Amino acid sequence: MMQKSTEIKIRKPDDWHLHLRDGDALKVTVPNACRGFNRGIIMPNLVPPVTTVDLAHEYRKRIVQNIPQDSSWQPLMVLFLTDRTTPEEIYKAHESKIIFGVKLYPAGATTNSDTGVTNLGKLNKTFAAMQEVGMVLQIHGEVTDKNIDIFDREAVFIETILKPLVEKFPTLKVSLEHITTEESVTFVTKDSDSVHASITPQHLLYNRNDMLVSGIRPHLFCLPILKRERHQQALLEAATSGNKKLYLGTDSAPHARDQKENCCGCAGCYSHLSAIELYAEVFDQFNALDKLEGFASMHGPDFYGLPYNDSFISLKRQKWKIPSSIKYLNTELIPLGANSELNWKLI
Ligand code: DOR
Ligand code: ZN
Repeated sequence: MMQKSTEIKIRKPDDWHLHLRDGDALKVTVPNACRGFNRGIIMPNLVPPVTTVDLAHEYRKRIVQNIPQDSSWQPLMVLFLTDRTTPEEIYKAHESKIIFGVKLYPAGATTNSDTGVTNLGKLNKTFAAMQEVGMVLQIHGEVTDKNIDIFDREAVFIETILKPLVEKFPTLKVSLEHITTEESVTFVTKDSDSVHASITPQHLLYNRNDMLVSGIRPHLFCLPILKRERHQQALLEAATSGNKKLYLGTDSAPHARDQKENCCGCAGCYSHLSAIELYAEVFDQFNALDKLEGFASMHGPDFYGLPYNDSFISLKRQKWKIPSSIKYLNTELIPLGANSELNWKLI
């Protein structure tokens, strides 16, 4: 029998999708975002959202104030796309050197996305500008039509919105965020040249049974919602296969406990207390620890056209428990996998 490795060293990872919020929340979320990562793509769904380069500069300053002194972590800012985002704003974003993507939220698709895009048809010149300068379009890939079942919203989005979009803009760099279905895996890895994708730890670790059987677990509720097991398996196989179009994006999204444990609880899983270890756990279960570095540290920079990090992290095979809760604002927050035992620990 092959000896199992007890320690692995990989190039320092980046998180290609995360939420920090603003104000006092940054005192908690920024230090945790630096844990194990060297860069993070910062989602712009604040209230009001980060729709301009000037707003992104201001937000970036507030984030940077909360980076621990010994950390080399950098926030990579993103603009929130609206029906009114102009090509001029895209050129300005490109020149700013602080903006690394523009996020398309279909209006109302998820937390703080009410002012998202209602009509893609109006944005042709904006997409053309993005294609021209090589700006990444990050997409929350779900339709919002109330007649479409929530479990089908991603697959319908691919057919009705994404395919026509990438046909019209074949060299636009597209990142389909937090993919959750076999249909997305097939589209990204087989049917499309230009579309890449990020995958969260929750969609690799859980399926809808984990969330709904023998009681509702609100801390597993996120959007896109966890799907059936067949989709989880497709994501697991794809993520651990070494496919260069797939990379790590936690979608770590803090919500206070009472906002989640609520008769109308909000969507989001907070994974930044143990993010890289959760991925290591998954890759280890698939006997694919040798594929972790590509997924976590190389495929993302390759897609975004950024250099690899030149520092490294080590993970040790050591049992530890994810905390049951942490202090957040004047209340508490329940992390993804609260209280569960992990086999890998960041040293
Ligand atoms: O579950 C989610 N939470 N999905 C999203 O798309 C947004 C995020 C949030 O901001 O809380
Ligand atoms: Zn997100």
